[in-house]
Amino acid sequence: MKINSIKINGYKNLRNVEIEPFEKTNIIFGDNAQGKTNLIEAIWISSGVKSFRGTRDRDFVDINGERAEIEVTFENSFRTQTIKIACARPNVREKSVTLNGVKLGSVSKLFGNLNCVVFTPEDLELSKGSPDNRRSFVDLSVSQIKNSYSSVISKYDNILQQRNTLLKNINYGSSKKDELEVWDIQLARLGAYISMLRYNYVKKLNSFTKKLYNQISSGREELELFYNSSVFKDLEGEEDFNGKMAEEYLDLLKSTLYEDLKFGFTQKGVHRDDVISTLDKLNTREFGSQGQNRSVALVMKLAQAYILFEETDEEPVILLDDVLSELDAGRQEFVKSKIENFQIFITCCEKPNHKTDNQKLFEVKSGHIL
Ligand SMILES: Nc1ncnc2c1ncn2[C@@H]1O[C@H](COP(=O)(O)OP(=O)(O)OP(=O)(O)O)[C@@H](O)[C@H]1O
Ligand SMILES: [Mg+2]
Repeated sequence: MKINSIKINGYKNLRNVEIEPFEKTNIIFGDNAQGKTNLIEAIWISSGVKSFRGTRDRDFVDINGERAEIEVTFENSFRTQTIKIACARPNVREKSVTLNGVKLGSVSKLFGNLNCVVFTPEDLELSKGSPDNRRSFVDLSVSQIKNSYSSVISKYDNILQQRNTLLKNINYGSSKKDELEVWDIQLARLGAYISMLRYNYVKKLNSFTKKLYNQISSGREELELFYNSSVFKDLEGEEDFNGKMAEEYLDLLKSTLYEDLKFGFTQKGVHRDDVISTLDKLNTREFGSQGQNRSVALVMKLAQAYILFEETDEEPVILLDDVLSELDAGRQEFVKSKIENFQIFITCCEKPNHKTDNQKLFEVKSGHIL
């Protein structure tokens, strides 16, 4: 998959941006606060996913402007397609979104067309940081392969919230225990399905990260990743998410009800699961050095791109925002060598000393491309 042209006007500080990216590496350089990340963000939003830095709808449009427009033309092995996103004040939430001229209801409906993998300095905390980050990483990765999955996650979150409210109301005496059952059944079914998909994804991830880590550490250590479920002892080969698995999940919800009521919060479930990594059998988060944790994060992100490629048969576009400058020379070379066949957008502050044939350079200044 390759992006052929990008036009942006009025998205944050970007003005009259019109570029024709190169099919390989594109280096976006410029001083701080000029609009490099905004450009990466606009591409990412065109893939149908929420901003990776949590930009709210009202901040889409330039603070002093009226209208924001993003247009991205890209091609996969079958055809060339065009995505257009536009919104205007005062109703910035109402976006006009089209794919090849056909109106779509929302930005999220674009999901599954332009596949991107974004890599930011925060992703380097993927191994060391909180379980929440790893769950979101797996959930986004799964939904890029199976588009219906993201709505399953929102449904689960919604039902979990309702159940937690009910637990509190039971404590206050304003609701009865038997009202829980209807929520528990739904939570168990969705939770069982999520567990199964996440387990299978992490298994696949492990097969890639194991090889990549072996290379990045020159065979010194062995990396293992596994899905740590708070509900199931062993998910290997489990498929019956509507039957046996849901029953097991439901039994667990029943057995932890006392605790759940005490805390007014559902103690176990996919919202408490994690992806654990070990290096030579020792937990990386607890025992690994800063450098080892960063290498684990790197190979997880690279594996995400490879799996997306394998599953969709299209190379995703790789967006590297400020990430290479955070890495030492050896790791920089490693990352570059692993993605050299993909189309890449890299941001950095310094203009590269020499330009190779496989690169195109773009300088960003005050929201303009020079
Ligand atoms: N809604 C908005 N309207 C106008 N300008 C905005 C809006 N949101 C952010 N900006 C501005 O966009 C500018 C560029 O932001 P961006 O994060 O893209 O910079 P950058 O080039 O990536 O910088 P750095 O090298 O520090 O990462 C900032 O000065 C910021 O104030
Ligand atoms: Mg930036």
